[in-house]
Amino acid sequence: MNKEQLLTQLSQVQTKEQLEARYQSYLGKKGSITTEFKTMGSLDPKAKKEKGQLLSDLKNSLEAAYADKEQSLSMTEINQLLEKELVDISLPATPAEKGHYSLLVQTRREMEEIAQSMGFIVATGSDVVTKYENFETVNIPITHPATEMHDTIYVNKQDQRGENYVLRTHTSSAQNYVIKKYGLPIKAVLPGRCYRFDEMDATHDTMFYQLEGIYIDKNVSIANFKNVITTFLSAVLKKEVEVRMRPAFFPFVEPGFEIDARYEYLDQKTGEKTMSKWLEILGAGMIHPNVLKEAGVESKEGRTGFAFGIGINRVAAMKFGIKDIRYFTNGDLRFIKSFA
Ligand code: PHE
Repeated sequence: MNKEQLLTQLSQVQTKEQLEARYQSYLGKKGSITTEFKTMGSLDPKAKKEKGQLLSDLKNSLEAAYADKEQSLSMTEINQLLEKELVDISLPATPAEKGHYSLLVQTRREMEEIAQSMGFIVATGSDVVTKYENFETVNIPITHPATEMHDTIYVNKQDQRGENYVLRTHTSSAQNYVIKKYGLPIKAVLPGRCYRFDEMDATHDTMFYQLEGIYIDKNVSIANFKNVITTFLSAVLKKEVEVRMRPAFFPFVEPGFEIDARYEYLDQKTGEKTMSKWLEILGAGMIHPNVLKEAGVESKEGRTGFAFGIGINRVAAMKFGIKDIRYFTNGDLRFIKSFA
């Protein structure tokens, strides 16, 4: 067996599998050299020694060559992998599309910020409330026909009184909760989702946002309210807004008002400054004593206050000139992207 020949054979393999097979064919259990070792027993001592040295030398050389070859094959493998999986970090990245807040969220945040600048805190209640919270805390007895004004969506789960939970029909349902939480005096806005079992059209959606405002302190008057709401609406709509109050009925206020607003705008056709039509924009009033009583604060002498509830969807529609409020929530990307 020629050593050089064996070494050359070993060095010519291309893969690790070939290398292993070749190595086994020399030095495996049934390998040629292993077999040679086994035949040594029958030799005389001198021949045995010579052959032993020869075979050991061959074995050592082959083992060293095997290790070298294995390493070089591993290197080749790694290099091939590196080449195949090369990432060119100098290539420009795929541009990531940037999102933005929806018009409703933008409007809500702006309204919150303006309210905060006027000294209101921002608080929230829950969307899912008891009938007690939605109606009774704001002076609407369950049996009162006023509950009929709200096309309530009921939840198939019952509260402690055994009554179904409801998706709140107005943010007024959170008045009781925040008055109890913060006590008096209080000046807070409560934004959030409301739900009504309404026929959907350009101005009605089954889910919409309201922003409730309450201010209770010593000597809070209707005049204070008119001033606050005029300032607030002017800041929100970024126009000098004129406000008109009409009497209206809401069980949780006395007296109650409906608020209309109008403002001056530039007529595109005539180019003249024109007064807009009166737009009904919110409900409000002086908080009913029963609401204070239910929140456990009726004994605080001389404290009165006002509450108002304004539809955020309607405000957003006015601000952005949207004719159909269903656009706000129907997920139409053409609409959403046009306000990016
Ligand atoms: N909760 C009333 C509504 O949803 C609005 C309102 C709030 C009216 C506060 C008066 C006072 O229509």
